[in-house]
Amino acid sequence: MPDTMRLLRSLDPERAHNIAIRLLSAWGAAGAPMRPRVPRLETRIAGLTFANPLGLAAGVDKDARAIAGWFALGFGAVEVGTLTPLPQPGNARPRLFRLHEDAGVINRFGFNNGGQAAGIARAAAAKRVGVLGINVGANKDAADRVADYVAGVSAAARVADYVTINVSSPNTPGLRVLQEGAALRELLAAASAVKGATPLFLKVAPDLSPTQIDDVARAAIEGGVDALIMGNTTVSRPALKSRHKGEAGGLSGAPLRPLARARLADFRRATGGALPLIAVGGVDTGAEAYARIRAGASLVQVYSAMVYGGPGLPARILRELDALLRRDGFARVADAVGAA
Ligand code: FNR
Repeated sequence: MPDTMRLLRSLDPERAHNIAIRLLSAWGAAGAPMRPRVPRLETRIAGLTFANPLGLAAGVDKDARAIAGWFALGFGAVEVGTLTPLPQPGNARPRLFRLHEDAGVINRFGFNNGGQAAGIARAAAAKRVGVLGINVGANKDAADRVADYVAGVSAAARVADYVTINVSSPNTPGLRVLQEGAALRELLAAASAVKGATPLFLKVAPDLSPTQIDDVARAAIEGGVDALIMGNTTVSRPALKSRHKGEAGGLSGAPLRPLARARLADFRRATGGALPLIAVGGVDTGAEAYARIRAGASLVQVYSAMVYGGPGLPARILRELDALLRRDGFARVADAVGAA
């Protein structure tokens, strides 16, 4: 393991994360070289061209500090945020836990971020060589949460290639209620009215019942959503080994994988291919990315695997994915979407 990774792993997880972002930001600012494009991996959804189907999931770079650095690591898309209208500190520390034995993470950050004005200005100034998404949410004590989303979509849409409405964080009490029928329809109508020509993505939780899945799928299609991100962290707890297993918050990484796979299949069925799907949750290899694509995902995103896999992970996943596509005779990644 390279020395920097070993050092970061020995530190408090939140401190280590902040140092990693600072290093990557400096590297990006110093003109980190960009990776060559691989034509087979290029793909198009929602009118956007992605150099490859691998994206950085929201929450890694909440305040949009290292955009050029992430692209230089190989990501075809970078989703910054979640950004809320006003800056907010989030929950008390500790609020981030590495579950080493499980290759998982539990977090209860609660949308700590420096606010939309600062984050979106940083995104606007960043060197962009790929697709930039901005993920927006509501402040914890907002009087009108829909108004917070409208403000976020309206501001982010002027800068981003796509905007994600995140109604699936388990760490802002009551937020997930916005995934329910009438509330979701109202939210999507309000957001669509201010997004202009910028595509709108919706990020949902893996903790949805079969009835809710059908309802969310219908509301998303009818509400003009351009892609659905499945999904966020889970509040469920499969069997875990780590001493941190009892911590409150959202679980991600390897222990989330079976649920994330199952929900992707559910949404593929519920949408019948009418809506592009973006798979997130426990993706850590090219084989896993390929399996999600074959199961119906147009793109995949990663967060937790970066904690364990380090900065070489995106290039490794893309190399493996390219080899698998070639092995099975797919000239384009889009040809493999839903092939399973
Ligand atoms: C997240 N995630 C997240 N998602 C989001 O939409 N907004 C956010 O601010 C955050 N913040 C956040 C912090 C931390 C510490 C983690 C681990 C995760 C969820 C993330 O984007 C992703 O959906 C899940 O983590 C599942 O993917 P992985 O981690 O299993 O690859």
